[in-house]
Amino acid sequence: MRLILLGPPGSGKGTQAQRLVQQYGIVQLSTGDMLRAAVAAQTPIGLKAKDIMAAGGLVPDEVVVGIIADRIEQPDAANGFILDGFPRTVPQAEALDALLKQKQMNLDAVIELRVNEGVLLERVERRAAETRARGEAVRADDTPEVLTKRLHSYRDQTEPLIHYYSDHRMLATVDGMMPIEEVTEEIGRILAAVGKTSGSRAAKKASPAKRSGKAASKAPAKKAAKKAGKAAKKAPKAAKSAKKAAKAAPKKAAKTVKKAAKKASKAAAKATKGTRKTSAKSAKKRSKG
Ligand code: AP5
Repeated sequence: MRLILLGPPGSGKGTQAQRLVQQYGIVQLSTGDMLRAAVAAQTPIGLKAKDIMAAGGLVPDEVVVGIIADRIEQPDAANGFILDGFPRTVPQAEALDALLKQKQMNLDAVIELRVNEGVLLERVERRAAETRARGEAVRADDTPEVLTKRLHSYRDQTEPLIHYYSDHRMLATVDGMMPIEEVTEEIGRILAAVGKTSGSRAAKKASPAKRSGKAASKAPAKKAAKKAGKAAKKAPKAAKSAKKAAKAAPKKAAKTVKKAAKKASKAAAKATKGTRKTSAKSAKKRSKG
């Protein structure tokens, strides 16, 4: 099981991730926790991230992508993982897609926790008070001023991911205003649906293509053409044949384009393999730093 929890600061990503860890025996990969550990250990990444995090901004994409690329290689992530706080920008989501494709892994679901902004400050302040009561250090970014900036970063840079994953028919939205237990139950239902349809996406259930027969019959051709176009950017030679196929029979193109898309993406994978290896290596270097 591989899933992403998406939501603004204080929406309950960490709370739900920990519950899912217990239920499914998979690991929680929280970029926020990893970055805070790096800050505490004063590693080069930590030194780079410290001020950005304290100001409520986002750490550069290449830094967090490097961290995640390394982390999903670890043996404890082999059975699956919950990404909590990653991806947070469209380039991060694209990098994750490439990473998973390279490892021949699929995402099972992207779950958005939707919460009214009005309750977020209250939640974050309560968490800060509980942390203080335990005698632990309160997060530098858990103040009303920084929360405002974190929310700004979320709206500007992370919210576009809702459309990104909805376009990819991966998104399922859960009402994060419900009590913690009920949110967990709802997530459980979504994950059960993903399991039942073995490999199909949770959001497929609600996708327009499923609701309308007309749309459904058009969907594969559209999807294949999109795939071909994407691969075309990466592998010009194979793309030429994909385009040719699409042009030759625009209406009955689904099958042909699908085939060409497959060819194109194969060539693209071949063409980018070397680059990915190099970037993975340098990411590893960076995170070891
Ligand atoms: P990160 O640590 O990811 O923080 P965040 O996204 O701002 O989220 P929080 O940890 O504040 O909240 P949460 O949604 O986990 O809520 P929680 O379960 O704790 O990131 C911190 C910083 O690191 C970022 O600002 C950025 O600088 C950097 N960073 C991290 N990842 C990055 C990336 N990918 N790219 C770039 N930069 C990155 O719940 C909050 C409180 O609410 C708790 O007290 C909980 O008990 C309570 N609660 C939870 N659910 C409910 C409920 N349903 N009802 C009532 N109370 C609830």
